[in-house]
Amino acid sequence: MKMKIAVLTGGGDCPGLNGAVKWITKSAMDSWLSSKRATDFDVIGISEGWRGLVDVDPEDPKSCERYLKPLDEEIVRTWDRYGGTNLGTSRTNPFNPKNDRSDILLDNIKKLGIDVVVAIGGEDTLGAAYRLHKLGVKTIGIPKTIDNDLMGTDYSLGFDTAVNVITEEIDRLRTTAGSHSRIFVVETMGRHAGWLALHGGECSGAYIILVPEYSFSLEEVCSLLQERKGREIRYAIIVVAEGAKLAGKEEVIQSDKVDEFGHITLGGIAKFVAEEIEERTNYETRHLILSHLQRGGTPSAHDRLMARWYGIAAVDMILNEDFGRMASLQRGEITSVPLKECIGRLKLVDIEKYYDKERYNGRRSIIR
Ligand code: F6P
Repeated sequence: MKMKIAVLTGGGDCPGLNGAVKWITKSAMDSWLSSKRATDFDVIGISEGWRGLVDVDPEDPKSCERYLKPLDEEIVRTWDRYGGTNLGTSRTNPFNPKNDRSDILLDNIKKLGIDVVVAIGGEDTLGAAYRLHKLGVKTIGIPKTIDNDLMGTDYSLGFDTAVNVITEEIDRLRTTAGSHSRIFVVETMGRHAGWLALHGGECSGAYIILVPEYSFSLEEVCSLLQERKGREIRYAIIVVAEGAKLAGKEEVIQSDKVDEFGHITLGGIAKFVAEEIEERTNYETRHLILSHLQRGGTPSAHDRLMARWYGIAAVDMILNEDFGRMASLQRGEITSVPLKECIGRLKLVDIEKYYDKERYNGRRSIIR
């Protein structure tokens, strides 16, 4: 039997995507493994996420060339070393209620002879994969998002590299912050989840960490800063998640333009916090928005390993006919969970477990 796997990457890019595509392709086409299987595979990469599968015209060779990339072991050989996604990505939602193109999607999958779709993405991309599965298409998910907020898995690709970027940048910032005795407010991504800020802040030893899951007060932030006065340390690093909220207020938004999944663009809280601190304390305060740097660069060793394991697991899942499921890491083991359990809500920071509400920082007691 021969099966055609279509693989796509959707949503925000991140390091680890190329590695996952590489290991899907290698595991599917490996001659050693093939000789022991009843199924052979072809693998095609779909350009630009769901947009590629919707916009491709299966009858037009030029369009197929534009959106479909036949993959083999030689093509993907070096991919795991590189960040971003060689397939390209988009935030296209084929099930967008304002522009539902699921009929075209289904038709194209049929015309292209695709047997199974492997979608590498976060909640949005995998939500579409679940809808597709419900319509009878064989689908498999692989979790990715630097936000690490996907339910059903302890780990989503890209998170470790992003935490490393935050740590490295704050290491750099410290020397200049120290020389000038300044406070720096560093804004991380993460949307409504505080994992990036929390882990980035903990790894870089930030003095204050502000997360969306626990609203903060500026009086408290300033009094924590003032507490340090007179000590030898003359600067402070504050990490603030883009989705962090002042008590009683909403998130700070950069633009209220919504994408196809209904998300607004968050951003700007660091500037606001920095200005308030300077005004209230007279301490010289600057801010820095790390923005898309957190999604850039080469994948960390951990992301390469996870990409490899998830890619291999996806092919195992196809062979086991575990469709409508997502590869997942749970307590250090790779397993799979129904896509349905991964969508509709986010995995947020459990404040009682992971946060010190008095010091606005990571927990200081672990074993209770
Ligand atoms: O979900 C990943 C993420 O990087 C979020 O942390 C961030 O809010 C958002 O994507 C930014 O989206 P865009 O790349 O469209 O600016």
